[in-house]
Amino acid sequence: MYFEVSINIEEEILQLKKELNAVILAHYYQESEIQDLADFVGDSLELAKKAASTSADVIVFAGVHFMAETAKILNPEKLVIIPDETAGCSLSDSCPAPLFKQFREEHPEYVAITYINCSAAVKALSDIICTSSNAEKIINSVPKDKKILFSPDRNLGKYLMKKTGREMLLWEGTCIVHEQFTDKKIQQLKFTHPNALLIAHPECEEPVLAIADFIGSTSKLLNFIKENNSNEFIVATEVGIIHQMQKACPQKLFIPAPPDSNCACNECPHMKKNTLEKLFLCMRDKKPEIKLDKELLEKAYIPIKRMLDLS
Ligand code: 13P
Ligand code: SF4
Repeated sequence: MYFEVSINIEEEILQLKKELNAVILAHYYQESEIQDLADFVGDSLELAKKAASTSADVIVFAGVHFMAETAKILNPEKLVIIPDETAGCSLSDSCPAPLFKQFREEHPEYVAITYINCSAAVKALSDIICTSSNAEKIINSVPKDKKILFSPDRNLGKYLMKKTGREMLLWEGTCIVHEQFTDKKIQQLKFTHPNALLIAHPECEEPVLAIADFIGSTSKLLNFIKENNSNEFIVATEVGIIHQMQKACPQKLFIPAPPDSNCACNECPHMKKNTLEKLFLCMRDKKPEIKLDKELLEKAYIPIKRMLDLS
């Protein structure tokens, strides 16, 4: 004989949040139930800033591993937990620290600007970190006579070269979600939605960015749809962001940009590893915990701090 015990998972999470004096930080690509429970939902830069300023004892990071690592680097004394520690990132995976170290050693005179989508070990080998919302500013802060290595996203790198007019040596990484969007599929969609504006994340491939009406980080895309008068938008980024767009402007239409095949590739498989159940379990068990050794924490902090000071 067994008894079925049903719990209200949202209530349990909120109760645990009180008991732990925890803050739940979530990225826009998390499933909508997690976004709705979070204390703060934002893009990578906003989440890093929130992590840097929180007075909570415990940071529950509903995002991917490199984001939770960043929160830990900014809060070495705090407990930082993540619902699923295997939630990785294709960009981060494309840039293993030993290869990045070699890349730097081959170009000793270059300044290494590294996108936040990388491991703590790669951050520790970088001069300054950036996100898609502050990258232009970070690049412009580097004296014009200095050469720049930009890693690991080649699409963001190419886009920034155009925006800033700076030549940069690029690492050849891509995001498995954003590289799925094609100009061809989007043009086809425009036949049925001729008035829709295309908004795109700069991790998209060059031909998609070339036809975009607006390009920006997730938060910048969200602000754009709030401020723009159009009623229809094709959204070329991970579909999770549409939850906040619909909440902000329920009368507007948001069409997910179609991936090149019929798969659900406009969902990030890493971000979607986190579920409400895993969020509850990680808070109940206070694990998986992000742990980094002291030396790595100290080294990785320096380029993140430089970014925050410039942002
Ligand atoms: P932002 O939220 O900073 O735009 O980053 C998008 C992303 O791909 C995170 O992995
Ligand atoms: Fe990484 Fe792309 Fe997923 Fe963002 S959407 S976490 S860049 S794999």
